[in-house]
Amino acid sequence: MIKINNLKKSFNSKVVLNGLNLTIEDGKTTVIIGESGCGKTVLLKLLVGFLKPDSGEIYFNQHRIDNIGWKELNKLRRKFTMVFQAPALFDWLTVFENVALPLREHSKLKEKRIIEEVESKLELVGLIGEGNKMPSEISIGMQKRVSLARALIMNPECIFYDEPTTGLDPIIANNIISLFAKFQKTLNTTSLIVSHDIGNVFRIADKVAMMKNGIIISEDSPKEFRKTSDAYIKRFIAHPQDNEMKK
Ligand SMILES: Nc1ncnc2c1ncn2[C@@H]1O[C@H](COP(=O)(O)OP(=O)(O)OP(=O)(O)O)[C@@H](O)[C@H]1O
Ligand SMILES: [Mg+2]
Repeated sequence: MIKINNLKKSFNSKVVLNGLNLTIEDGKTTVIIGESGCGKTVLLKLLVGFLKPDSGEIYFNQHRIDNIGWKELNKLRRKFTMVFQAPALFDWLTVFENVALPLREHSKLKEKRIIEEVESKLELVGLIGEGNKMPSEISIGMQKRVSLARALIMNPECIFYDEPTTGLDPIIANNIISLFAKFQKTLNTTSLIVSHDIGNVFRIADKVAMMKNGIIISEDSPKEFRKTSDAYIKRFIAHPQDNEMKK
C-alpha cells in the first residue's frame, strides 16, 4: 500500500501540490483525473523519486520512501515503475532490446531466460514477432505497448501510467485499457493511472481521485463519481476532451 501524507511541492513561487493526501491500495487500480497543468505528472514523479517533495511524506508498505538515497531508490525501482506520457524508447535499440534493458541492467539472468521473459511480455501486449523492429518502424500505439512491456518486465508490484491512451485511436486506447485489466488479473499489480480518457478508465478503476488546486478534492468509485452533484466534477466528467484541449 502507498500512503501519501500532506505532500507539498512548488516550483519557484508556483504551488503545484498543496498538502495532498491519497492512499493507493494493493492490487487495485486507482485513477487520477484533473485539469491539464494541475500537477498529475509531478505527483507521479514524486512517487517514483524523480522529484523530491518540499514537505510531506510518501510511505510504501510503512517504509518512508520520499527521502531515501539513490541506492535504496534503485532497489525500489524494481518494485515501482512509471510509464511516461510519451513512449520513451531508445531509438537505437530494437523493440526486443528496449524491453530487455531493465533485465540486462538489474538482473543476472542468462540470455535464454531473458529471451523467454521478453517474449512473454511482448505476447502480453500483443507484439509477438515484432521484437526485431526498430522503434521508428512501428506506430505510436505499438511504441506505447512496447513501453508497457518494458515497464512490466521486472514484474513490478506497482505501475504508474501517465496518460496511457492520449494520442491513440479509440480502438487501440480501448485495447490498452483492456490490457491493464489483464495485468491486474494475471500479475496482481497495483496501478495508478493518470488519464483524461474517462470512458475507458472508469471502466477499470476501483477508485477515482480528482485533483484540483494541489489537493485531492474527491475520491470515490467510478459509479459514485458519475452520480456526483458537484458542478465542477460533473462538467469535468461530461467533457473530458475540453480538459485535454487546454494543453
Ligand atoms: N521541473 C519543473 N520545473 C518547473 N515547473 C514545473 C516542473 N515540472 C512541472 N512544473 C509545473 O508544474 C505544474 C504541473 O505540471 P504537471 O506536468 O504535473 O501537470 P499535469 O497535471 O500532468 O498536466 P497534463 O494533463 O497537461 O499532463 C505546471 O504548471 C508545470 O509547469
Ligand atoms: Mg501530465
